[in-house]
Amino acid sequence: MSKKVNIVRSLKALRKETAKWRYKKRSIALVPTMGALHDGHLSLVRLARKKADRVVVSIFVNPSQFAPHEDLARYPRDEAGDVAKLAAVGADLVWAPSVAEMYPDGFSTAVQPGSAARDLEGAFRPQHFGGVATVCCKLFSQVTPDIAVFGQKDYQQLCVLNQMVRDLNLPLKLIGAPTKREPDGLAMSSRNAYLTSEERQIAPKLHATIAALAEDVRAGADIAARVAAAKRSLLAAGFGKVDYVEVRDAETLAPVETGGQGARRVLVAAWLGKTRLIDNVAA
Ligand code: PAF
Repeated sequence: MSKKVNIVRSLKALRKETAKWRYKKRSIALVPTMGALHDGHLSLVRLARKKADRVVVSIFVNPSQFAPHEDLARYPRDEAGDVAKLAAVGADLVWAPSVAEMYPDGFSTAVQPGSAARDLEGAFRPQHFGGVATVCCKLFSQVTPDIAVFGQKDYQQLCVLNQMVRDLNLPLKLIGAPTKREPDGLAMSSRNAYLTSEERQIAPKLHATIAALAEDVRAGADIAARVAAAKRSLLAAGFGKVDYVEVRDAETLAPVETGGQGARRVLVAAWLGKTRLIDNVAA
């Protein structure tokens, strides 16, 4: 039976709720989202549910992480649907501030993310991680969670935020949850809703290509040659443009050499028509 979820839109009301929990020594988990929730998000909420006494899910489409030419205006929104899904997985509270509540008149402070933000997504979306880091820093101080759960689907985001938490001594722990995939391998994403049926057929090739690349890298293949081949096969499959295919250190995201030691991650961003998809796997 799903319980009713409390939707809170003012910081004052949020603080009142979290103060009650803190007084009773309840631990708090935060799952930050931009709404349009799919099973991937719900798996984060289920994980949060296991790790803490109370679960807050924030729904806020953060304008400052979108460049002017990006999809802020058409980003999918369905608050009623989101709240029904969250009730079914046992979230306690939805924090859904307006843009004016999050960024009141006169707001002018920002977090400048560190080295993990510099390239990959950072090269193609220069203001993106500044916007993400700033809003997450605010969400952390608004909700005061003990933990926050993020999907590994946005792997670089998780690295950037881990670096921020470490560097600024923020008093919480981040948990990265495995990417939820459709049966054909496509990583769940709110942006999958933009794909035409023809593009949807091609989309799983993104995961298949990086999974094969990761396997070859693990077996000691030459990284540069395999990366070039992966780019060619994505273009041949019907992707219009490949922004990057990279094999990186799994923690720092620094470039790695063929045959090097340590955990590695394969990361990709590519365009299918007007939709930009990203994905990553361990290598
Ligand atoms: O991953 C997302 O949905 C967003 O970048 C986040 C973390 C909610 C910040 O707006």
